[in-house]
Amino acid sequence: MLASPEAARFVLINQAHLFKPTYPKSKEKLIGPSALFFHQGEYHLRLRKLVQGSLYPENIRKLVPDIEALTVSALDSWADGRVIKTYNEMKKLSFEVGIMAIFGHLEPHYKEELKKNYFIVDKGYNSFPTNLPGTRYNKAVKARKRLGEILNKITRETKEKKLVEKDLLSSLLNYSKDGKGETLNEDQIGDNIIGILFAAQDTTASAMTWVVKYLHDNPKLLEAVKAEQKEIYQSNGNGKSHLTWNQTRNMPITHKVILESLRMASIISFTFREAVTDVEYKGYLIPKGWKVMPLFRNIHHNPEFFDEPQKFDPTRFEYDGPLKPNTFMPFGSGVHACPGNELAKLEMLILVHHLTSHFRYEVVGSESGIQYGPFPVPLNGLPARFWKEECAN
Ligand code: HEM
Repeated sequence: MLASPEAARFVLINQAHLFKPTYPKSKEKLIGPSALFFHQGEYHLRLRKLVQGSLYPENIRKLVPDIEALTVSALDSWADGRVIKTYNEMKKLSFEVGIMAIFGHLEPHYKEELKKNYFIVDKGYNSFPTNLPGTRYNKAVKARKRLGEILNKITRETKEKKLVEKDLLSSLLNYSKDGKGETLNEDQIGDNIIGILFAAQDTTASAMTWVVKYLHDNPKLLEAVKAEQKEIYQSNGNGKSHLTWNQTRNMPITHKVILESLRMASIISFTFREAVTDVEYKGYLIPKGWKVMPLFRNIHHNPEFFDEPQKFDPTRFEYDGPLKPNTFMPFGSGVHACPGNELAKLEMLILVHHLTSHFRYEVVGSESGIQYGPFPVPLNGLPARFWKEECAN
């Protein structure tokens, strides 16, 4: 277990070729063995370049109006005074955004089929992997098979239409142009789509839930964020015109709240690697085949790097100088660092914009705590009530 920035850099960056990603076989089976993050070397790098390319700011900036529409529609659907489990609703929202980033505009019947089966796989993903009929894992394996079939259909149709879109599926279909003439087969495309959805959905949903919780727990900060967002909302004629990409780039207080939420919650608390050969680090031997875990959360909560680490304090990101290298890694680091980090932050900025500028909410119940599923989520998924603010403001 590695809890120092230097050791994390050694494993994730400097000597990354000596450590391969490693996941339980049961999980690999549900996602699909060709998903990029199970791999090292050439195949991983080429796929990663494609995925990263379609998630570059110049591409995701076009998604702002669609993400905004999905976010407003989600908030509207919660805002009837009933108690909802914030995390569950955030999962639905991050799924919709994930689907949109991958496929662009997908026919509703395909979306419904994907959603139904994806959520069965999601339920079985962290269950005990016995493949007996009736178990969650068994249901998930079956749903995964159906997902593969639906994805193959969508892929074939997209190929026939020869769409020149910049979404992720089109990038995967263009794999050959980028490499040596080979293309990805349908299963490889399917595995990567499921892999990206899995990497994107729970993580972003958990992060958004924590932002809502931290803002609720820090009323002064919530007021400051509200003021920042209301100004933008009013300059858009109280929502008559759409939020723009440039406006999302100019939300300094909200941006720091998001960074601090990512540090505090450390959603990906650590990652796993496996030594592919005997490795020596500072006089210690890491034998071939041993697992190595860089512990992001421990680094994020080390007072040597973050003063009073248990305090939620976004101003810590105002320091003039940059943070010490490899001390802030909510999105990992090195060859497997998260290619979706800008999209995730964009989703959060848009959510906070609408939530604080013309909605209100209250957390229900006084119990505070964390649940791991396996990502940390506020207890019971943060039950809360949402409503629309009166137009007079
Ligand atoms: C707040 C939300 C998110 C967090 C905290 C997060 C965190 C991470 C971390 C820590 C890693 C590195 C894992 C490792 O080194 O083993 C990672 C990898 C990855 N993430 Fe994210 N992620 C988020 C959202 C997203 C989104 C929205 C997408 C895609 C649309 C995405 C796609 C991926 C992919 C494909 C990888 C694997 C990259 C590779 O192996 O080269 N993530 N993420």
